[in-house]
Amino acid sequence: MKNNKRKVIFDCDPGLDDALALLLALASDNLDILAVTTIAGNTTIENTTQNALDLLYFYGRSDIPVSRGNANPLLGNFSMGAHVHGKRGIGSVELKSSPAQEHSLRAHDLIRKLLMESDEKITIIATGPLTNIALAITLYPEIIEKIELISMMGGSLNVGNIGAATEANAGNDPEATHIILSCGVPIAMFGLHLTYTTQIYPKDMDRIESIGGTFAKTIADFNRFHFQFYKNELGFKGDPSHDSCAVAYLINPDIFTMEEYNVVMDLDGKYSRGQTIVDLYNVTQRKPNVLFGMKSNREAFVELVYDSVLKLSYKLSK
Ligand code: BDR
Ligand code: CA
Repeated sequence: MKNNKRKVIFDCDPGLDDALALLLALASDNLDILAVTTIAGNTTIENTTQNALDLLYFYGRSDIPVSRGNANPLLGNFSMGAHVHGKRGIGSVELKSSPAQEHSLRAHDLIRKLLMESDEKITIIATGPLTNIALAITLYPEIIEKIELISMMGGSLNVGNIGAATEANAGNDPEATHIILSCGVPIAMFGLHLTYTTQIYPKDMDRIESIGGTFAKTIADFNRFHFQFYKNELGFKGDPSHDSCAVAYLINPDIFTMEEYNVVMDLDGKYSRGQTIVDLYNVTQRKPNVLFGMKSNREAFVELVYDSVLKLSYKLSK
């Protein structure tokens, strides 16, 4: 029987904030996750793939296929994030090893297969570097018209984390980001300027833990570990939940203020390679290609996170 849920492929590099984003997607009644595809980024491809398998097992959804993506960007190497996400990519949490095995198809091939076999368009959530999706689009351009939307965490208006104004997902594979931005697919983009202000405060983490049980505590611990870097190194008062923004938008778009802009990737700059250039005043007269997240309602976002943990925690306890 056909369901009315939005069909989704979740491309990610888990990653502590990817882990929370995945939880949000799984807890939602609006989203039907067809597959999780992995990319290196926060940590190696071996780690992100095993983490995806183990997270799905932990979330009670090891039926969802996990497909391994690229170990490297289209050019060069990734700048990885052990200083934020810990050595294995999910902080200090020890998850049980999933009995499931990764899918036999590589990410770009599974993306193509799912899109071409589907009689409705599919949304791609992208919370890591865009390499797999760019490869799929380049190798199989026929998939472009089958993509409903790419909801991505990446890029930035004015701040960076791997360069002065260069964000990690977009800037770790500038060529891939360029391919996505110029291929004509509808894009909703949640950049670092927005995710830096979409914070889960320590009191929110305590409230999540107070749901009770190891499930809720583990999620609070994901946030606490991720928060440490931002607190100690950047002086933040809460944990910026980058990747969850790209999912929360699909569940409750009202959380975000979105505006249409033309966004391009700087491929050449000495100091700006990997930066997204957002034409706020349409100076270039280029057509808008991105629905761009400008700000978020932090309280509403945190409520969604809390409700999602509560819901999944309750479901798993039954
Ligand atoms: C992005 O980079 C990764 O560290 C996070 O998981 C997020 O996707 C933030 O720049
Ligand atoms: Ca990520």
